[in-house]
Amino acid sequence: MQRFENSDPAKRAAGYAAVDEHVVDGTCIGLGTGSTAYWAIERVGQRIAAGERICAVATSSETQELCRRLHIPLVELLAEPIAVAIDGADEVAPDWSLTKGGGGALFREKAVALCAKRYVVVVTKSKLVEALGTFPLPVEIVPYAMAYVRREIRRRSGDLPIVRREIEGQPFVTDNGNWIFDCHFGRIDDPPRLDATLREILGVVATGLFFNIASEVLVGSADGRVLSLTASAPN
Ligand code: 5RP
Repeated sequence: MQRFENSDPAKRAAGYAAVDEHVVDGTCIGLGTGSTAYWAIERVGQRIAAGERICAVATSSETQELCRRLHIPLVELLAEPIAVAIDGADEVAPDWSLTKGGGGALFREKAVALCAKRYVVVVTKSKLVEALGTFPLPVEIVPYAMAYVRREIRRRSGDLPIVRREIEGQPFVTDNGNWIFDCHFGRIDDPPRLDATLREILGVVATGLFFNIASEVLVGSADGRVLSLTASAPN
């Protein structure tokens, strides 16, 4: 997580605002993954250091490690009710449907989001899109079923580019021991439908499509201002 320090002030503004506005002493929260969520985690660390009693569920081993470094007590999913979860996103559509999973943590991020009473998304303006799909959709898959999943996605959605995510020539392995397909669907007009289509394929664990889940979207700017979006109804 060292790499995120001293980076984008817009991300820091959004992450800090989410914690300042939504995290209450004595509660359990969900903490996301990535360079924007990083700042929310750092802010929670400051509040713990000041004596507050907040505990957290981490959405990835990366976040877990950062929490440990900042002495943020960790609990298992639903060991405590999750008052609020704070996480970044790769794309935010006008109806607040999201693409997530750029960091590969989509399954745990979705699990935490589904368990949280409120779900606050922290982004910069660059993440706001007219429709999802410019960012390739991450899909977590069981490695054994790779060829089958690829064939079935194409059978249902056409001959789109499907790229197995790799790091230094090796498959990227998620915290759940799975792989990621980055799928280039192009414009996604009906995220729930595409999500359902993909999840019916044996070997698809989760997609990076999040919908009907965000309670608030906070957009940070480099000057430190943070805008809270208003959702518009889906088309
Ligand atoms: C990780 C995620 C991240 O929330 C998403 O990739 C945004 O990250 P960043 O704030 O670094 O742009 O979904 O799986």
